[in-house]
Order: sequence, then structure tokens, then C-alpha cells
Amino acid sequence: MDITSAKFLKSAERLDQCPDHTLSEVCFIGRSNVGKSSLINGLTGHPRLAKTSGTPGKTKLLNFFVINEGAWCLVDLPGYGYAKVSQEQREKWDKTMQKYMMERENLALIVMLVDSRHDPLEKDLDMVFWLAEHQLPFILVLTKADKLSRNGQTQSKAKFRKALDEMNIETDIVLTSATTKDGMDLLRKTIIDFLPAASSTESS
Ligand code: GTP
Ligand code: MG
Repeated sequence: MDITSAKFLKSAERLDQCPDHTLSEVCFIGRSNVGKSSLINGLTGHPRLAKTSGTPGKTKLLNFFVINEGAWCLVDLPGYGYAKVSQEQREKWDKTMQKYMMERENLALIVMLVDSRHDPLEKDLDMVFWLAEHQLPFILVLTKADKLSRNGQTQSKAKFRKALDEMNIETDIVLTSATTKDGMDLLRKTIIDFLPAASSTESS
């Protein structure tokens, strides 16, 4: 099963504004500017589907995209840890996202993004720990791999694997680049493997 179509469905600011449907959802989380929206565009092959920007804090709402004419749904979330908004606004986003991840019954997978160029950051490891603690299904995706050499990519993956091992957390780690499309096929396959069988067949 591949991604053959992707269409914007709606944006939501709060949980009660999320689509009232039973489609399986796969959401993308990670620090602001890590490349969530770019990866959604790379995965779907639609370069302008999710809005991207070099300025952190571009995605301010939960944005829902329907895949394969109603087979399942991708959800682009605002980044966490964005410094240039008020503390109050940041806490509001964090709460909304936590609530979404904990309460959304049709959430099949959380794709957690971290920048492959940096050492694991405390904020990211806290989030990984929080996901594991709440027994939420998630995978770790390392972004912007095109900015590293082959050797750097291997080292980056090893560093994150070690950090997860130290927390006794077992999960897939996929190295990607939205620019070169490296890792895109593997990520697509990994995501689809998490979907219930009914979602990963062609449109319903
Ligand atoms: P927010 O919506 O602000 O939370 O950011 P985001 O995580 O959605 O990041 P976005 O996709 O908007 O990308 C942020 C910046 O990183 C943009 O300038 C992108 O062009 C750049 N970028 C994203 N992915 C890659 C990548 O794989 N390689 C390179 N070189 N740049 C990337
Ligand atoms: Mg974004």
C-alpha cells in the first residue's frame, strides 16, 4: 500500500474541533522547526500540502490531512518548545497536544521527530519518556539527514539508540531527509505497518 492521494481536511485549535470521524490517525510531533511539515510533504509527495517555514512556530493548529481518499489521516501538530510565543500560549499548545495524544481514540501512531544533527536534547528525551510512560505507540524519526555525512548519520542513529536504551525504551528509529527523500520509503512502510488492517487497504 502506498500513499496515492493526500488532501487537507481541516484545522483545529482544540480537541473538540478535531474531525468527528473514526479514521486512524498518525500524528507528527517534535520541536518547532525540526521538519514536521516538510516530512509530511515528502511522505505524501505533495510539496505544498503542509505549510513549511524557516521561521519556527509556523504550524499553530492541529492540521488534518486525509490520505488515500479516506483510508487514514495524517496530523501535523504545532512544534513544542517554541520560545517566541508567550509562556501562556506555549502551555496552552502543550496541553492541547498532550490531551490529543492521550484521548484521541483513533490515534494509531505518534511520529516523534528530532534533528539528526544535534545530540539528544533534554526536552526531546522528556517527551520520549512521557510517550513511553503513557504507553503510547510511537517511533523516532531523525530529520535533516542530508546535512550529515554517512558517518555522521550512523553516529547520530547510534546516539539516539543509546539514549533510548538507557531509558529502557524499544522503538523504531528512522533516519530521513525531506530534501533528498532518503528514508521516505522506510518511513512510509513503518507508518503503514502501525495502521489497523482496514485502514491500510485501499480507500473505503
Ligand atoms: P513548525 O511548524 O514551526 O513547528 O516547524 P516544522 O517542524 O513543521 O518545520 P518545517 O517543515 O516548517 O521546516 C523547518 C525548516 O527546516 C524549513 O526551512 C525547511 O526547509 C527545513 N527542513 C525541513 N526538513 C529538512 C530536511 O530534511 N533537510 C533540510 N536541509 N532542511 C529541512
Ligand atoms: Mg510545521
